[in-house]
Amino acid sequence: MSAVAASTGDGAACGARHVAIIMDGNGRWAKKRMMPRAFGHKRGVDTVREIARAARDMGLEALTLYAFSSENWKRPADEIADLMGLLRSFIRNDLDELVANNTRLKIIGDYRALAPDIVELIEDAMARTAQNTGTTLAIALNYGSQQEIARAAAKAAAKGAITPEAIEAELDTACLPPLDLLIRTSGEIRLSNFLLWQAAYAEMWFTDVLWPDFTPAHLREALEQFAARERRFGGR
Ligand code: IPE
Ligand code: IPE
Ligand code: MG
Repeated sequence: MSAVAASTGDGAACGARHVAIIMDGNGRWAKKRMMPRAFGHKRGVDTVREIARAARDMGLEALTLYAFSSENWKRPADEIADLMGLLRSFIRNDLDELVANNTRLKIIGDYRALAPDIVELIEDAMARTAQNTGTTLAIALNYGSQQEIARAAAKAAAKGAITPEAIEAELDTACLPPLDLLIRTSGEIRLSNFLLWQAAYAEMWFTDVLWPDFTPAHLREALEQFAARERRFGGR
C-alpha cells in the first residue's frame, strides 16, 4: 500500500490521486539570501525534481505543477529567458529519469507558443513517455485557466451543446484524474489563474514555505491533512 493510501484515517479510499502545486516564492527565497532571482528559480527546479520523485514514491496518479503562467510574460525579458533556459535544461537532463521511472510527461497550457526548440523538446519528451503507466507529471506552461476554459468552450461549441461535461472533456487536463488537492507555497492565498474549473471541489492547502524550501515532508503533511478532511461535494 502506498504511503498516501496508508495515511487514510477511516478505511475509505480517500487518498489523493491528483495533486497540483502553485510553486511560488523563488524570487523571495533568493532575495532573502541577497542572490539574483535566477538563483531562486534554479533551486526551484531542484525542488521540482525532488517533489516529482516523492509523488511517484507516494503513489500519486498525477502531479500538476504550475511552472509558467500566461501572465508571467509581464516579467522582465531576462527573467523570462532564465526561466526558459531552466525549462530547456530540465527536459534535457531529466527526461531519461522520467522514462526510466515509468513517468508520463504531460504539458498543459498553450505550450506551442513557446520558442520552437522548446516545443520540439516538449513534444519529443511527451512522445517518449506517452506509453508510461506510472505517475503523470503534468507541467503547466504558458498556462492560464480562463484561456483554457475559453478554448475548451469554443471546441465544445464546435461539436454541439456547451454543457459542463462537454467543456470538461476539452480541457487540457481531460486525461488526468479529478483534482483532489491544490497546494500553494509562499504564503499567497490566491489561485493566480490556475485550474479554476478543476478546483471546483478540490481541497486547498496553503503554506508559508517558499518553493525552494518545500520538501517531500511538506507534501506528506499536506496529503495527511487531505486524508483527514471530509469531502461532501454538496451532499450531506
Ligand atoms: C515562482 O516564483 C516561479 C514563477 C512564477 C515562474 P516567483 O518568481 O513568483 O517568486 P516570488 O513570488 O517573486 O517570490
Ligand atoms: C503563479 O505565481 C504562477 C506560477 C507559480 C507559475 P505568480 O508569482 O506569477 O503569481 P502572482 O502574480 O503572485 O499572483
Ligand atoms: Mg510569485
